[in-house]
Amino acid sequence: RVPTVGIDIGGTKVAAGVVDADGNILERMRAETPDKSKSPRVVEDTIVELVLDLSERHDVHAVGIGAAGWVDANRSRVLFAPHLSWRDEPLRDALSSRLRVPVMVDNDANTAAWAEWRFGAGRGEDYLVMITLGTGIGGAILEDGQVKRGKYGVAGEFGHMQVVPGGHRCPCGNRGCWEQYSSGNALVREARELAAAESPVAYGIIDKVQGRVGDITGPLITDLAREGDAMCVELLQDIGQWLGVGIANLAAALDPGCFVIGGGVSAADDLLIGPARDAFRRSLTGRGYRPEARIAKAQLGNDAGLVGAADLARLVARRFRRTN
Ligand code: BGC
Ligand code: NA
Ligand code: ZN
Repeated sequence: RVPTVGIDIGGTKVAAGVVDADGNILERMRAETPDKSKSPRVVEDTIVELVLDLSERHDVHAVGIGAAGWVDANRSRVLFAPHLSWRDEPLRDALSSRLRVPVMVDNDANTAAWAEWRFGAGRGEDYLVMITLGTGIGGAILEDGQVKRGKYGVAGEFGHMQVVPGGHRCPCGNRGCWEQYSSGNALVREARELAAAESPVAYGIIDKVQGRVGDITGPLITDLAREGDAMCVELLQDIGQWLGVGIANLAAALDPGCFVIGGGVSAADDLLIGPARDAFRRSLTGRGYRPEARIAKAQLGNDAGLVGAADLARLVARRFRRTN
C-alpha cells in the first residue's frame, strides 16, 4: 500500500501529487507547463524534477502520467498533442529510465475518468463518459471498469469533433473544433475579445486587470461570475450551452448512464453545469422517450487527472512486481 506519484500535464500547468491507495493526496506540487516551442526534453525535465523532489519525503514506487495528448495503444508513446510539443514521443521509456521506477502513461482525461470511477462521482457506474474542460476538452469512455481506447489508443478525442464548419482555428490544425467553443481557452478568448473591444459589458473585468487584457484568466472570469458580473455569467452560460449540445451528441452516439464533468472550468459549478443540463435536455435526440444520462460534476475536481494517474500506476507496478 505504498504511495505512488500522479502527474497531470495540461496545456498550462503540471500538477503532481503523492497519492495513497484510497485516492488521498498526501502532498502536492505544481509547475508551469514549459512553452510549446521548447523541446519535449524540457517537459520531461520538469516531470523528473517534481518526482525527485517528492521522493525526498515519500517512498515512491511508481509514477503515473496523465498527459494532454494522444497516447498510443501500448500506453507508451505520446503520438500528438495540440497543446504540447510532443510528436511521437517515447515518454514512458524515457521517464522510466531516468526515474528507475515503473511509469504508466495515459491520456489526461482517461486518468481523470478512472479516478472519478474509483473514488468520485462515477462510483458504481458501469458506463460513464468523462469530459474535462481545461485548456481544451478532454474525453474518455469507461465501460465495465475499463477505459475504452479504440484500436489505436486515441478514442475519446471529443474536443476535436467539428461543431462549427469553418469556425475558430484549433491548435490541432482544424477549424471549428468543439474545444474552441467549450473550454478554458474559449472562455478566456471571448472575455479578452470583449475587453479588447472595450465593450461596456466588459468594464468590470477591465477594471479588475487594470486594462491589461492579457491578464484575464479562466479562474478570474469564474470569480467575477460568482460575484454576479453579468458578462462573466453570460460567458460561462455560453460555454455551458456548447457543453450541453456536445454531450447530447455524445449521448446519441454512446448512450452512457452518466457524464462526469471535470477540469479547471468545472469549478464554476452551477454557473456552467446548469446551462449545460438545460441545453442537453433541449438537444437530446428522442428526449422524453428515452432514459436520460445523469450529468455530474467531478467530485475530485481538477485533481482527478493526477489521482487517476497515480492509481493506474499502482496497478501497473503491481503487475510489474508479479512478473519480475
Ligand atoms: C487533447 C486531448 C486532451 C484534452 C484535455 C485536447 O486538446 O487533444 O488529448 O485530453 O485537450 O487536456
Ligand atoms: Na481520452
Ligand atoms: Zn481541434
